[in-house]
Formats: sequence, structure tokens, C-alpha cells
Amino acid sequence: MPTATPMDVFKGLAWVIAGVLFISSLRGLASQETARRGNGYGIVGMVLAILAMLVAGSKDNVVFLIGALAIGAAVGVTMAQRVAMTAMPEMVAILHSFVGLAAVLVGYAAYLAPGHATVDSAERIEIWLDVLIGAITFTGSIVAFLKLRGSLSGKPLLLPGRHLANLLMFGASLAMVVPFATLPGVEALPFLLAMTLLACILGVHLVAAIGGADMPVVVSMLNSYSGWTAAAAGFMLDNNLLIITGALVGSSGAILSTIMCRAMNRSIWSVIFGGFGADAPAGGGNGAKVEGEMTETTIDELTEELRNAKEVIIVPGFGMAAARAQHAVKQLVDLLRKRGVNTRFAIHPVAGRLPGHMNVLLAEASVPYDIVLEMDEINQDFPRTDVVFVVGANDIVNPAAQTDNTSPIYGMPVLEVWKAKRVVVLKRSRGAGYAGVDNPLFVAPSTRMLFKDAKAGMEELVTKISA
Ligand code: TAP
Repeated sequence: MPTATPMDVFKGLAWVIAGVLFISSLRGLASQETARRGNGYGIVGMVLAILAMLVAGSKDNVVFLIGALAIGAAVGVTMAQRVAMTAMPEMVAILHSFVGLAAVLVGYAAYLAPGHATVDSAERIEIWLDVLIGAITFTGSIVAFLKLRGSLSGKPLLLPGRHLANLLMFGASLAMVVPFATLPGVEALPFLLAMTLLACILGVHLVAAIGGADMPVVVSMLNSYSGWTAAAAGFMLDNNLLIITGALVGSSGAILSTIMCRAMNRSIWSVIFGGFGADAPAGGGNGAKVEGEMTETTIDELTEELRNAKEVIIVPGFGMAAARAQHAVKQLVDLLRKRGVNTRFAIHPVAGRLPGHMNVLLAEASVPYDIVLEMDEINQDFPRTDVVFVVGANDIVNPAAQTDNTSPIYGMPVLEVWKAKRVVVLKRSRGAGYAGVDNPLFVAPSTRMLFKDAKAGMEELVTKISA
């Protein structure tokens, strides 16, 4: 048995420490209070992994490697600084496409490296798996990116016989592993190329079949795929850290997708198999038409109600993000709390357009964590609340999710704001939310509508209350 060199020991140790740091990072990211620290652990782990690779790895291409790292870091920092919070899912999607492409290229490099003439079937299967998942992730993420940007229609592309087409493409890719794993040298190359092409088409077709509404779940699912492809690359390159990291990303992405699907009342299988069940909405219809009149309110009236209230809950939604109203919301909360009004936030798990969207915005505005409560923590408090102030939210406060079994959002857990004494909804128009369904909350006797842009309305309110 060959004895380990000090460099091997160093590398092994660095891998273990980096692995522990990545696990701690995920743990830290699980809550708002520890998220910054979690992010820090991830950065340190990644720097350690790169340093260990540079010190202990081959020195042949070190200049090239440092050059590539510098370019990648410059592009990454610029993108991260420029991206608007609302464009985050797009950025994540395009980054996943890079992971997929990298996996495909690494797979080809491993196959074409000196010694590829001799057949090692296990290694070939690892390459096949890495390229297959990488190619699906690559093209699927590009389609998700284009749909999220609006460059491609958000409508699902539902070709007739699409499930059969997917099955045939997957079956053909699967069948090609046999010649690829057994033929020597370049004789196996056509099979790898054909499988890559099929996997690229499959990636496009799977994601094109999913509507824009489910795109963030798809992005999270592609995140999971990018993890599994990295894990496959880890087996191929004999790199334990890549296996650990890939498995962490793969499984956490899958868990997150499941949580999102549950919160949106979607089937995870429809996301994995692309448009499976997309023909019929969750509730089997378009939802009942809402009859009744909306009652409008004014800033003056709302000021009075908030001043006289003891318990206030603010429910932020996508509109707060779109209007960038979080700083004005924080000012309002400060004013109310100074007056002794117990003011808290209720956060729905899929408020906004990406997981944790509202939490990030409120943290950016320095809202204290202890007044930001998750749906399960605060739902029972609505009946004893004087005023619920809904800021740019719609679907997440729609009672039809509980009462109308023909609604596409039927079964989705919602914030039961209608149980409060008064509900005030700040939005620009009578328009629907993300799911495109009417909201009976808006015509309820205890609801008042304030038709304004969230930021402008909130700033007016702050001026009035502080006067
Ligand atoms: P939505 O249901 O999309 O409602 C947002 C409301 O904000 C709209 O009705 C809109 O009405 C209003 N609005 C938009 N811009 C505004 C502005 N500048 N000022 C004031 N109001 C504005 O949002 P939600 O209640 O947060 O629910 C989230 C939805 O997204 C759910 O259906 C969820 O399933 C879906 N979704 C969420 C995620 C994640 S992970 N969070 C992922 C995918 C999908 P007006 O146009 O009348 O102003």
C-alpha cells in the first residue's frame, strides 16, 4: 500500500475542514440571525478548498488556473453588485447553467485525457452521468433564465406526447451508456456526443413545459441538479470534497424545492418531469368570480386607525419588493413602536418571488429579527389584531385558498388576515396577483383598499404619522 505524503495529509485535512465549514454554512443560512455567519463559513471553506488545490495539486497549469480564478471572481463580484433583488432568481439560473456547462466540459476533458484508449467502465459511467446531468442542467437553466427575464414566454410549451418524447430521449441516453462504457478510445466518442445532444434537448424541453409561475421552483430544482452533477464530477475526478459539496447542494436544493412546492400547493413531480399535470390547475379550475364592491380608504383614515391600534401586523408581499418600499416600512414600524403600538411582521413562505425574499429585504432595512414572524408562528394571532396592513401582497392572503376548491391556489396555506378587526391593503390597482385569481379579501366588510404605489403610499403615511 503506498504511504501518504505530507502533502496528501495536508490536502485530506483541508478537505475535511472545508467540508465541515460547508455544512456549518448551510446550518447558518437556515436562520436570519446566523445567515451572515453562515455565508462567512462558506466563503472561508471555498477559499481553503481553492488554496489546498493550488498548493497540493499539479503545478503545470497554475498560472492559467490563477488567471481563470481572477476572471471568474471579477465577473462574479460585478454581477452580484449589480443584480437587483427582484432579478435574483435569473442570476441564480444563469449561474446554474455555468455549473452544468463546466460539468460537461470536465466530463469531456476526463474522457479525452491521455489514457482514454483503455476502458475503465466504472470511470466511463461516472463521466456519462456527469455529462448527462450537466447537459440537462446547462440548457434547462438557460431556458429558465430566459423565461424569468421575459425573453421567452412564461407560458408552458405543452407539445402533444411530450411525456413520451421525454421518456424516449431519456431511454436513448440511458441505452448509450453501454457502448460508451465498453468501446475503447475515440470509438466511444459518437455515443458521448449523441447523448450530450439528447440531454441538451431534454433540458430545453423539460423546462419549456413548465409555466413561468413555477420557474423559481424549477430554479431550485436545477440548483439540486447542479449539485448532483458536481458530485458525479467528484467521483470522476476522485475528489472527495467535490462529492461532499455536490451532495450538500443536491440534497438541500431538493429539500428546498419540496418545501416551495408544498407552500405553493404544487406537485414536485410536475416540476421534475416538466409540465406533468400542468394542464389542470391544483384546484381543477380558474376559481370563482368574486362579486362585491371594494371599499377604499385614505391616508388620513389609515393614520387614525394605526394611531388608535394596540396590535398591528404588517404583511409584506411582492409589491413591497417591486416598489422597494422596505425602508419606508421600517420607518413606519419605528414610529408605531415608539407610540407603544405592538407592530410585527407576518411572513408567508412564498411571499415575493424567491425563498426568503421578504426576510432579506427587511434585514436590509434593519428591521429587528424578533418582530419578523413566520406564518405558523403568527397565524393564530390575527383574531386579536386591530389592524393588518397588507403591503403589496395578494395570493398569500387570499381566503379562496381555503374556501374555493375550483381555485388554482386551493390548498395553498395562507395568512388568515381576514380574521383581524380591520385589514388595509396597499396596492396600485384592482389587478390580480401572481396566480391571476380574484381575491375575495378585497371585498370583505372589514377590508379597506388603499390604491397607491407601495413606496409612495408608505412615505405619505410616514410623513402623516410623524406630523
Ligand atoms: P402576488 O400574489 O404576486 O401579489 C403582489 C401584488 O403586489 C399584486 O397584486 C400587485 O397588485 C401588487 N404590486 C405590484 N407592484 C406594486 C407596487 N409597486 N406597489 C404596490 N403594490 C404593488 O404576491 P404575493 O402575495 O407576495 O404572493 C407571492 C406569489 O408568488 C404566490 O402566488 C407564490 O406562489 C408565487 N411565487 C412565489 C415564489 C417564492 S419562492 N416566493 C416563487 C414562485 C412563485 P397591483 O398590480 O394592483 O399593484
